[in-house]
Amino acid sequence: MSAPYPLTAAVDPQLHAILVAELRRQEDQIELIASENHTSAAVLETVGSVLTNKYAEGYPGRRYYGGCEHVDEAENLAKERLCQLLGAERANVQPSSGSQANQAVLLALAEPGDKILAMDLNHGGHLSHGHPKNLSGMVYEFHHYGVSPEEERIDYDSVAEKARAVRPKILMAGASAYPRQLDFERLAGIAAEVGAIFFVDMAHIAGLVAGGVHPSPVPHADVVTFTTHKTLRGPRGGAIVCKQEWIKQINSAVFPGMQGGPLMHVVAAKAVAFHEALQPEFRAYQRAVVANAQALAEALQQRGYRLVSGGTDNHLMLVDLRGPEGPGITGAVAEDALHAGGITVNKNLIPFDPEKPMLTSGIRIGTPAVTTRGFSTEDMVAVAGWMDRLLRAPEDAELQAEVRAEVADLCERRPIYPHLGSASGAWAAD
Ligand SMILES: Cc1ncc(COP(=O)(O)O)c(C=O)c1O
Repeated sequence: MSAPYPLTAAVDPQLHAILVAELRRQEDQIELIASENHTSAAVLETVGSVLTNKYAEGYPGRRYYGGCEHVDEAENLAKERLCQLLGAERANVQPSSGSQANQAVLLALAEPGDKILAMDLNHGGHLSHGHPKNLSGMVYEFHHYGVSPEEERIDYDSVAEKARAVRPKILMAGASAYPRQLDFERLAGIAAEVGAIFFVDMAHIAGLVAGGVHPSPVPHADVVTFTTHKTLRGPRGGAIVCKQEWIKQINSAVFPGMQGGPLMHVVAAKAVAFHEALQPEFRAYQRAVVANAQALAEALQQRGYRLVSGGTDNHLMLVDLRGPEGPGITGAVAEDALHAGGITVNKNLIPFDPEKPMLTSGIRIGTPAVTTRGFSTEDMVAVAGWMDRLLRAPEDAELQAEVRAEVADLCERRPIYPHLGSASGAWAAD
């Protein structure tokens, strides 16, 4: 097989070398970043298609440009499949990212200065949920709820108390680093009690919801946003589903409120991903994601690591690196040590973390990407063993080289993109 991306190689060898290096990085390392995944070859192909050439401001049948007959079909397909997948009334598939989907919803449903109650960023919330340096935090008056210090789980009684005190226009739910299931029914009840709109950002768990392994917020929430590239395993982007009554406001907030021309190659790739998510294998994949997370969590706990909240119900876990039996290093040191051994994670604040965000006391690890490439629960036990060795000797270069070789050996047996030559090793020696 020839080297991948031959057309780019002919035009731009410098950039081609970067593409091949990144392909090699993804193939040779164990990806444990909880928000990442490896899309299918069909999604990759569609993202790289001629649809990138098309301007299509507006919505199907109501565009500001001619020649939109085919992209109209692609967008309609994406919306229909998404509504079918999630049992939603209406959908907007144009947001270019999760943050833009969230901004569009806030623009649609709130006035500047309105009060919004959302998950605390230091307890797992996302920056688009009111970080002072994010547009959301600059425009609206955000209040936050968090997890309890004892259980490290959301304390729904205290959310209700806060909601009664704040009387927010919008109650938001959803997180970037919360290892437990969210009780959407309970949160919807709190929103109803205080007359708030209930808005769920299910970016991390969208695939789990679509695959039936996490309760769905769709029946309970007015509006639900998500990213399409995490557990859902589609192209990088965002999407919104909502009750019929909100769709007009949502559509005009996305365009012309937030964006110009939608990325039609990405919208079409979302349609492909939603089609894939409607297949029975996708449910099996999501069950395997959760089983792998549980296997990894248990194996780490057996080696003395403390997990925030004592474990995981979903695709991710937060490891507290302190604790009596922990390695006693910061998240930053851990991230570097694991990287040197061929394992990619991100440092992450844990609830009530005394460290700064650039250091942290924890790491966040997730199983969507490794499950996509076929890692089993036995593989996860091996991963826990490698992590433990690396974390307990973070400066040991010899050990790192040894682990890196073992990691590469397993990765070679679990290729991600054989059609790009990963199985044949075609690009391994250039
Ligand atoms: C809960 C949540 N919402 C929104 C986003 C933002 O997505 P994007 O990076 O596409 O803007 C993320 C990304 O990590 C997230 O975790």
